[in-house]
Amino acid sequence: DNFALIMAGGVGSRFWPVSRTEHPKQFIDFFGVGKTLIQSTYERFLRICPPENIFIVTNEIYIELIKKQLPELSDNQILAEPIMRNTAPCIAYGSMKIAELNPNATIVVAPSDHTIADQDGFVAAIDEALAAASSNDCLITLGIKPSRPDTGYGYIQYVDNTLASDPKIHKVKLFTEKPNLDLAKSFIQSGDFLWNAGIFIWSAKSINNAFRKHLPDMFDIFQAGQSVYNTIDEGGFIGDAYQQCTNISIDFAIMEKADNVYVLPTDFGWSDLGTWASIYDMAEKDYVGNAVIPSEQVIMFDSSNCMVNVPHEKLVILQGLHDYIVVESNNTLLICPRAEEQSVKKIVADVKSRF
Ligand code: GDD
Ligand code: MG
Repeated sequence: DNFALIMAGGVGSRFWPVSRTEHPKQFIDFFGVGKTLIQSTYERFLRICPPENIFIVTNEIYIELIKKQLPELSDNQILAEPIMRNTAPCIAYGSMKIAELNPNATIVVAPSDHTIADQDGFVAAIDEALAAASSNDCLITLGIKPSRPDTGYGYIQYVDNTLASDPKIHKVKLFTEKPNLDLAKSFIQSGDFLWNAGIFIWSAKSINNAFRKHLPDMFDIFQAGQSVYNTIDEGGFIGDAYQQCTNISIDFAIMEKADNVYVLPTDFGWSDLGTWASIYDMAEKDYVGNAVIPSEQVIMFDSSNCMVNVPHEKLVILQGLHDYIVVESNNTLLICPRAEEQSVKKIVADVKSRF
């Protein structure tokens, strides 16, 4: 059977003040379409597996938000983490729990903060990878054609060899998570690297074996819970288990190390909503390049290429403003040149230290 494990425990600080620790980006309707990012993610997976096979891993502080936004989930489908330990523990926990429900499960692990333009293309790629993962001991990731030397992504170099059962799924030679800028530039120049989409497909058996091999301590921690997963004792067990976990991402812990990593190159209009620029790129714009969400109460004169995201009830007037981000949320207003948006993460840290 196919299962989905949606990771929804990140904080998204580059979207401050709209994305906050108390209300991170995955719970926000960035495009004003009536659906938050996690609701859209969930909907995509309804086309891939039965609703009862979709699981969400998040921090316990977001449980109420998840229940509100996805009321159809049962309590057992929401995995609560007591502390943030990055994606390796979250995947180890989810995979062991799913393996207890079905030892032959195939699993798609996916972030909750991406947008996908071509839904049919997405479903086709995942179905293809799931079919391959059900009959091969491999860890499959989806690859994206890179467009800039972004240091926030994983980079994948693959070889001509493919799975015997699927000539589109290539063996990975090198997986490098978040390279420095020089390395990222050299990867882009060489032309034969893909970005890691952060969407993984594997069998429960293969990923659990990978943990056993590359992160044996974490494997032991979660393996010890075998008898309590999917029972009322799971929460108590997890509360203790997380205290013993190291803080590490799946990319550094497993994907960089394993020798059975494969990639399926894809092209379905993937975007990682990492910064305001990615929202701006995807949003609808007026003829002078202003993206305004929501638009009813914003009046602009002689202004262009601005990203404006303000509360519904706010009357906002801009005169002569070009290439700026104007965002307001929770009584906090941020005005920043679009070219300097990477500094938002630093600004947040500084601002927080003042209060
Ligand atoms: N449950 C849980 N617990 N979820 C988490 C945690 C955690 O401690 N930390 C992060 N997440 C969730 C985030 O909410 C997001 O949906 C997903 O896991 C990925 O985490 P990010 O923090 O956004 O990772 P990244 O963007 O820096 O890097 C990953 O994604 C890139 C593509 O977007 C890597 O896989 C890169 O290799 C990849 O290129
Ligand atoms: Mg991300």
